[in-house]
Amino acid sequence: MLVDSSRRTISHVRISVTDRCQLRCRYCLPEEGVPLLNRRDVLSYEEIQALVRVAVEEGITSARVTGGEPLLRRGIVSLVRELAGLDGLLDLSLTTNGILLPEMAGPLREAGLARINIGLTSLDPAKYRDLTRGGDLAKALDGVESAVAAGFDPVKINVVLLRGVNDDPRPFLDLTERHPVEVRFIEYMPIGPVPSDLGFVSAAEFRGRLEAHGPFEEAARSPGNGPAERALRLPSAPGSFAFIAAVSDHFCDRCNRLRLTADGHLRLCLFHLREIDLKPALRPVPDRERLRALLHEAIAEKPAGRPEGAGIPGRGMSQIGG
Ligand code: 5AD
Ligand code: SF4
Repeated sequence: MLVDSSRRTISHVRISVTDRCQLRCRYCLPEEGVPLLNRRDVLSYEEIQALVRVAVEEGITSARVTGGEPLLRRGIVSLVRELAGLDGLLDLSLTTNGILLPEMAGPLREAGLARINIGLTSLDPAKYRDLTRGGDLAKALDGVESAVAAGFDPVKINVVLLRGVNDDPRPFLDLTERHPVEVRFIEYMPIGPVPSDLGFVSAAEFRGRLEAHGPFEEAARSPGNGPAERALRLPSAPGSFAFIAAVSDHFCDRCNRLRLTADGHLRLCLFHLREIDLKPALRPVPDRERLRALLHEAIAEKPAGRPEGAGIPGRGMSQIGG
């Protein structure tokens, strides 16, 4: 088992496979974008697999593939198939903006992916287009339907809460009445080159707004619910909703994760700039013992909690993988 210096068991790794994305969500990227990685700095699938194999031997049991937009990376289905086949990796999931799911949901499911999260911050086409700087809501919604049809269980919908954009819960409740999805209302975290106040809405405030639409009942606990609270649902609805109060509730004492950037750095915490570069242990060929040592160094150095203050400079969400 991987136990850090705050006695937390680290069991989960988020794997960013690319920093590229076809959208530019306002809460993730600045209008002009961010400098993209040089392709030769991006880890190959062989390098990612080498690291994940060592991590699983050491105690990682769960992984999530992220980006940027992971479905933009060529061959992603084959990476998923390899990871899904690793003994000891009990839970594999992927976060996407959903745009490419109509073509890819079936192949991903067939490759062994169990769960999927789709970022969908507004159900109003004009607001979605504005927030993503050009995205087509109809395509993202087709993606949601394809994911449900392909049998992902659960399909989660990530909604970053923003004032004046999506602070009316009704459309999302309607979505839970139409589809067996879990909508997760997430507090906006100003990480990297994004505005430090884009219209922050706390989970507590949003929960208050939801009350008028109840009563709700507790939904069954779905797999992979880390820091999310227990899910609720409308009595007749196949779908449910939950909150992730990533800003107002520092769930650092329950943090179980590491993050791997597309260029092979282990990021120890979203809110700290400290990273450990794994490339020297991966190139020219993966060195399992050096990887093991760097992994343990990362665990030992994982910060106990978050620094005070708004705004975290350095890499943005599309460069870390959320
Ligand atoms: N704050 C909170 N969540 C964010 N995401 C992206 N940027 C932010 C942010 N600034 C979420 C999106 C995406 C996931 C990878 O991270 O919901 O689905
Ligand atoms: Fe792309 Fe996701 Fe960032 Fe939006 S939040 S720009 S979909 S990486």
